[in-house]
Amino acid sequence: MKLAIFDLDGVIVDTAKYHFLAWKRLAAMLGISFTEEDNERLKGVSRVRSLEIVLELGGLEKSQTEMEELAQLKNTWYVDYINQLTAEEILPGVLSFLRLLDTEGIKTALCSASKNAPLILNKLGLASSFAVVVDGNSVKKAKPDPEGFLLAAERLGVEPQQAVVFEDATAGVEAAKRAGMPVVGIGEPDTLADADLILPGFGDVNQRELLEKLKQLVQAKISL
Ligand code: BG6
Ligand code: MG
Repeated sequence: MKLAIFDLDGVIVDTAKYHFLAWKRLAAMLGISFTEEDNERLKGVSRVRSLEIVLELGGLEKSQTEMEELAQLKNTWYVDYINQLTAEEILPGVLSFLRLLDTEGIKTALCSASKNAPLILNKLGLASSFAVVVDGNSVKKAKPDPEGFLLAAERLGVEPQQAVVFEDATAGVEAAKRAGMPVVGIGEPDTLADADLILPGFGDVNQRELLEKLKQLVQAKISL
């Protein structure tokens, strides 16, 4: 295991609640009802795809220009929330796990669908914590396409099967699998069944044991 690739939203910080509030406001403006359950479908998918899903829920169709304006408006509201983020909102266990990887000489990368990833990392004080950051601005194809994960590994000169991915969304788990990388699902087993290992989060786990398990997982896949 030479590299750990982290998704951002839902793995490092819980931004889903802010995405929800901003999408809900946009949906209300358009007369569409939008629930937390609907919000689950937006996890891990791009901003444009999220808007398409919201419009589908309301049975609405919009022109390209209108879509761009609506996505922009939602993002303005979302950024208002993100601007208030502090390091306090980094999810439990993340910082100690990053430190453990560092002492073990394992590189770290961030790979997020979000175009706001640089801003979020800055607000959390994590801007220089990853050797490479691949975000929604750096890839042509969003998850479940493997482009972002492959790009992160390539930039660090690591073979895909020597990288382990941490993901909370089904689109991200699928992307990691398509990249040929072992993947740890962060969250509930029912939504992440395809992951190689599932954890509720980085807090409340023995992180040394976890790391040993991951090394074994990488080894087992390489020997297949
Ligand atoms: C992902 C989130 O990380 O980023 C999605 O899980 C979101 O819900 C996507 O739609 C794009 O984010 P942004 O910040 O570019 O609108
Ligand atoms: Mg995520």
